[in-house]
Amino acid sequence: MSLEGLKVLITGGTRGIGLATAQAFLAQGAQVTIASRKLEHVHHALESLNHPHAFGFACHVGEATARQELVEQSLQAMGGLDVLVNNAATNPHFGPLLKADAEHWQKIFEVNLMGAFGLTQLCYPALKASAHASVINIASVAGLKVYPGMGIYSVFKAGLIMMTRVLAAELGPQNIRVNAVAPGFIKTDFAKAIWDEPAHLKPVLAATPLRRLGSPEEIATCICWLANPQNSFTTGSVITSDGGLTL
Ligand SMILES: NC(=O)c1ccc[n+]([C@@H]2O[C@H](COP(=O)([O-])OP(=O)(O)OC[C@H]3O[C@@H](n4cnc5c(N)ncnc54)[C@H](OP(=O)(O)O)[C@@H]3O)[C@@H](O)[C@H]2O)c1
Repeated sequence: MSLEGLKVLITGGTRGIGLATAQAFLAQGAQVTIASRKLEHVHHALESLNHPHAFGFACHVGEATARQELVEQSLQAMGGLDVLVNNAATNPHFGPLLKADAEHWQKIFEVNLMGAFGLTQLCYPALKASAHASVINIASVAGLKVYPGMGIYSVFKAGLIMMTRVLAAELGPQNIRVNAVAPGFIKTDFAKAIWDEPAHLKPVLAATPLRRLGSPEEIATCICWLANPQNSFTTGSVITSDGGLTL
């Protein structure tokens, strides 16, 4: 199966799962645009990718103007778009849901849900023109199951999963596939508070049948599989990659 020639936009593409996904697409012949908030992170990631078909721009996905600019820049750099990977997310609140305030709700809504929705809406004309169009939303096992302390993040990851299903139904007739990946605990900066602290890591490993954390490369493999044009009948799916955590 080949990803040759696909034009791919990945938000949060400067480290962790997003960067590993950029590497995987490039290695299989795709063109890739990565984006994240900090320009220095974008430059650093582009240096590490070191590929003539890699492009990068700064974009805070929670800001409407920044999303608009990113889509324009990406289309110009790659000459079109086949695959949008909505990967950027934030989680500024950890603790009981009732301890969260309106600011936390607003922030997570803007980045994790409106960011993905707004970009999908802006990319829609380009995706409609592609023969291999797909949107891949990076959800979480926290959107499928309750984990203590993950409150608002879980609510919006569940929302992202339902948005994936609704858009898959609405865009299917235009041959645009929409899928999600729900990772378990993956060894990136995002989950550092878990893997860096033995007292937190121990119960996670005990609850994970494979008895380890996942790697960003393993999630990248799922994302590439969903994007593959030969995987053309898969839409509205949520692929769980969690070492068995949700069993
Ligand atoms: N790691 C896990 O255990 C795990 C589990 C389940 C789901 N996930 C999901 O996987 C996705 C990627 O997470 P990760 O673990 O790879 O995280 P990560 O290593 O912390 O990387 C996050 C990336 O997103 C960018 N970013 C953060 N806020 C942004 C914003 N507002 N706008 C644009 N870019 C932004 C960061 O760069 P800048 O700092 O430059 O913005 C960085 O490139 C997220 O959707 C997360 O919810 C992760």
